[in-house]
Amino acid sequence: ASPTQDELKALVAQAALAYLVPGQIIGVGTGSTVNQFIEALARVKDQVPAAVSSSEASTERLRAIGIAVLDANEVERLSVYIDGADEIDGQGCMIKGGGAALTREKIVAALAERFICIADESKLVEKLGAFPLPVEVVPMACEHVVRRFQALGGTASLRMRGSDPLVTDNGQHILDVRGLSIEDPLALESAINQWPGVVTVGIFAHQRAQVCLLGTPKGVRTLSY
Ligand code: A5P
Repeated sequence: ASPTQDELKALVAQAALAYLVPGQIIGVGTGSTVNQFIEALARVKDQVPAAVSSSEASTERLRAIGIAVLDANEVERLSVYIDGADEIDGQGCMIKGGGAALTREKIVAALAERFICIADESKLVEKLGAFPLPVEVVPMACEHVVRRFQALGGTASLRMRGSDPLVTDNGQHILDVRGLSIEDPLALESAINQWPGVVTVGIFAHQRAQVCLLGTPKGVRTLSY
């Protein structure tokens, strides 16, 4: 039988251990693939003095396996940041934020020398944008930002949690934008970053991946950018 998506995630989670530098603090992302990475990490935790995490959820899991979690302000530099993605292209540019943790993910990624993306092969795309683009926005700017996306041909909808707007770890809202044509991820990331009220856009082109470990039925495919 061909491996399940979960098995592919476990495969790349295990492969990511090879990128740890023993004795160095690591950056840890968020999501179901990272959850598998944290499980794998439990077996080598003696090599990891501490971690910086991109979400309350990952922090909890790291502490549960006995890894200390530091505030990002306590750390000047990380050798690696390991995280999943919602989409990744042939240049290592990504869409992230499906789990609503994009702002902290971008901050921790910025501290790291190398972004190691772990993903099953369904995440690899020719062109970013089929996955709705998450954008974290200050609540009072939401409608203004929705109209800006409309002008670009995108349809933005407020992410809900039950009957209320979702509130991120940073106290903001998330817009999910469909129908954008992302020809130039770097340029679009820069442009949206200028809009008042945008906290973080889920395009990771300035902080793209240097390595992607892609889980395929034939094993781990390593893409280096
Ligand atoms: C979290 O905000 C996202 O950026 C995740 O990295 C992304 O959704 C990947 O999650 P999975 O590993 O669950 O697919």
